[in-house]
Order: sequence, then structure tokens, then C-alpha cells
Amino acid sequence: MDLSVKIRDKIMQNPVGTASGTFGFGEEYGELIDLSQLGSIYTKAVTVLPREGNPLPRLTETPYGMINSIGLANTGVKGFLENKVPFLNTIKNCAVIVNVAGSTEDEYTKVIDMIDSVDSVWGYEINISCPNVKCGGLAFGTDPVQVERLTKEIRKRTNKPVIMKLTPNVTDITTVATACEIGGADAVSCINTVMGMKIDINKKKPAIYQKTGGLSGPAIKPVGVAAVYRVSKKISIPVIGLGGIMNWEDAVEYFLAGASAIQIGTANFIDPNTPIDVLDGIKRYMTNNKLEKISDFHSFIE
Ligand SMILES: Cc1cc2nc3c(=O)[nH]c(=O)nc-3n(C[C@H](O)[C@H](O)[C@H](O)COP(=O)(O)O)c2cc1C
Repeated sequence: MDLSVKIRDKIMQNPVGTASGTFGFGEEYGELIDLSQLGSIYTKAVTVLPREGNPLPRLTETPYGMINSIGLANTGVKGFLENKVPFLNTIKNCAVIVNVAGSTEDEYTKVIDMIDSVDSVWGYEINISCPNVKCGGLAFGTDPVQVERLTKEIRKRTNKPVIMKLTPNVTDITTVATACEIGGADAVSCINTVMGMKIDINKKKPAIYQKTGGLSGPAIKPVGVAAVYRVSKKISIPVIGLGGIMNWEDAVEYFLAGASAIQIGTANFIDPNTPIDVLDGIKRYMTNNKLEKISDFHSFIE
């Protein structure tokens, strides 16, 4: 069985990764699971300058999911280079993909310029759900024109794999995916969180400080599966599926929808061993169904 996944000219040993913002920079989870078994780790977002993130409360549970509005809290790119890279350098076999965020094109490209020479950085996942301050706050990821331009700028900067992370909070996600492909992206990951809100009826107040936030977990899996299905029919670069994957059956659903790889997010908070269990389950399913490689999943659903 061949579990490898090729993105640009690089190979991930298997299709199971951990989603940005749910796995830190791998260090804490490295005490709980064997990171070298994973296909990939997507880091917490890195921005040019350090960010405190949004005021508390910024997390709340919902039926079959949770809403977060962390606000990209991170130590900034210098802090990343000083404090996170030494640990990332020790990770073997697993692709380390840095999630990059910014409010202007310059902010994204600065981060990439500053870390591109770090050998242990395998590639980038570009979080385009951030508001573009130069364009009046409209999120990059909702405007195909901005997405194509940003992708092109990033493409000029690096020969490493560039994965654009799509937001589901748009009218037609396939239009944005196409803009990524035209701009020179090597893959897209879908989906980021779905806009959600919870209100405490006793306090008559939103449950989180920012009022609305990003819904993740099992509640959004059908949204993610539909996005992967529609996007993978439209573009020819690999699609990485995520949103609500809690077990191997969920992962298989994403592969059948057209995903070439998957990421586990919210499930890590419940059981850090989920990625390893999911990988084992995928292998059993492939053996029982006589599938030899991940692309064999893609022939079943037209
Ligand atoms: C607490 C939390 C923090 C997150 N931070 C980021 C982030 O920094 N960058 C990013 O692209 N996505 C971030 N995400 C989105 C996840 O990577 C993922 O796209 C989303 O949660 C859906 O997957 P899931 O349902 O498996 O969690 C975050 C999600 C959560 C729950």
C-alpha cells in the first residue's frame, strides 16, 4: 500500500495531518504521541508581529462542536524562529507546514521571506481568512481577485509547497479555489471554520467576547465534505480536507469526496491520539477494500 502524498515536488509519508491552531507547534503533543508517525503538522498561525489575540472568553462549546475567536495569538515570526524552530528541527519524517497569516500582502510575504531558509519548514499553509486592512477589512479569502494576487506574490517568494486554506464563508468556494490554482498554489486545504454565534440567554449576552467566531468540530463535517467534493471537481491541484474529522470513517468520507490528504483539528482536544487512530483505520479500510493508493478513493463518486 502506498500512503504517500505528493505536493509540488515533495512527498508526505502519509495523508494524515494535524490542523493549524489545534496542535500548537507540536511540542506539547510530542510528549503524548509519536510525531514521526504523522504525515504532517500544520503549525499555529505565524504573523509578522507578536499578537496577544482577542480578549477572553474566546472559546465556547456548542452542540457537536465549538466556537473560537482566538484572534491569531502567536509570538510573531522572530519568536517563531527563536523559540519554535529548534523543536521543529528535531521532528523526523513528518512534514512541518507553517500556517501564515497577515492583514496585508506585505505581512504575508515578510513572514515567508524570514523563514524560507529554515530547512525544517517543509511548506506553507496560507490562512486567507484574515481581514485585509488595506481593502477595508474584507477577508482576503472571500475575494478571488485578492486571492489570486496574494497567491502570485507568495509564489514568487518560495519554491516550497504553497497550500492556500479556504474559508467556507463565501458564496462559491470553487471560484476562490480556481483563483488559488491560477495564482500558482500547489494545493488548497478546505475548510477553515464556519462563522457561528452562541448567546447565553440568562446573561442575554454572546458567549464569547468577539460575539461571533469560528465553528469547528463534527457540526461542520458535511460543509467540509461538500466543499472538498465541489473544489476537487473544479481544480487539478490536490485538495486537503478538514472540518469535523473525529475518526477514520470521517477521513474516508473526505477521501471519497476527493481529498488527497486530511487534517485533524478539534478532535485533538478530545483525544490527542486521534491522528494515529485515524491513520490505522485508513490502512485497514484500504486493505479491506483493496485500495492501493489514496487516489484510488477518487474513482467512486462522479
Ligand atoms: C482553537 C482553534 C484555533 C485555530 N487557529 C487557526 C489558525 O491559527 N490558522 C488557521 O488557518 N486555522 C485555525 N483554526 C481552524 C482549524 O485549523 C480548522 O480549519 C477548523 O477547526 C476545522 O477543522 P476541525 O473541525 O477538525 O477542527 C483553528 C481552529 C480552532 C478550533
